[in-house]
Amino acid sequence: MDSFEFNKIAGAVLGALLFLMGIGIFSDAIFHRAPPKTAAYNLPAEEAAPAAAAAAGPSVPLPELLAKADAKRGETLSKPCAACHTFEKGGADKIGPHLYGVVARPIASASGFAYSDALKGKGGEWSYAALDQFIANPRGYANGTKMAYGGEKDPARRADILAYLRSKADTPAPLPAP
Ligand code: HEC
Repeated sequence: MDSFEFNKIAGAVLGALLFLMGIGIFSDAIFHRAPPKTAAYNLPAEEAAPAAAAAAGPSVPLPELLAKADAKRGETLSKPCAACHTFEKGGADKIGPHLYGVVARPIASASGFAYSDALKGKGGEWSYAALDQFIANPRGYANGTKMAYGGEKDPARRADILAYLRSKADTPAPLPAP
């Protein structure tokens, strides 16, 4: 084997090695994946429980919510109610009774409005607490009510709505003492 032939063989071997290294680097570049930052599966409970508790939140008493409530925000939040109710003085009954002065008004007392037996059977007047329960879950408060409204689940938003209802009166009813 002369040196020329040796060089050819050595060259071929080197070339093959370089080629293999090249493939290694190249395929790394194509197939490299960063390890996932989060596991693809969820670990059970431990983390979910406190989150759920936080969502439910510590329940703030209604008088405190009312003290912080804002009638202007309440007006915006009451837009869905306006599909069925008027809020202005002398407003007509629509699908629902007019709501001017509804805070502290006797329940089911808008003359001429055909209330459900569920609401007529309640008795008493609309306290803030009663309105709060009714708006949170109309059917929960008066099973059989004609008010086809799903309910506002957020207590702070309900307080804003109550503040708006309160403002719609000749003399706004006093707020409950904290
Ligand atoms: C789809 C129509 C509809 C929507 C929306 C609606 N209501 Fe009513 N509402 C009614 C009807 C109908 C009644 C009468 C219920 C009955 O007789 O059982 C009523 C009754 C009431 C009463 C009792 C009034 C009284 O004279 O005793 C209050 C308070 C009230 N609604 C507030 C609200 C508020 C606040 C909202 C919005 C957050 C709202 N409603 C949304 C239809 C509606």
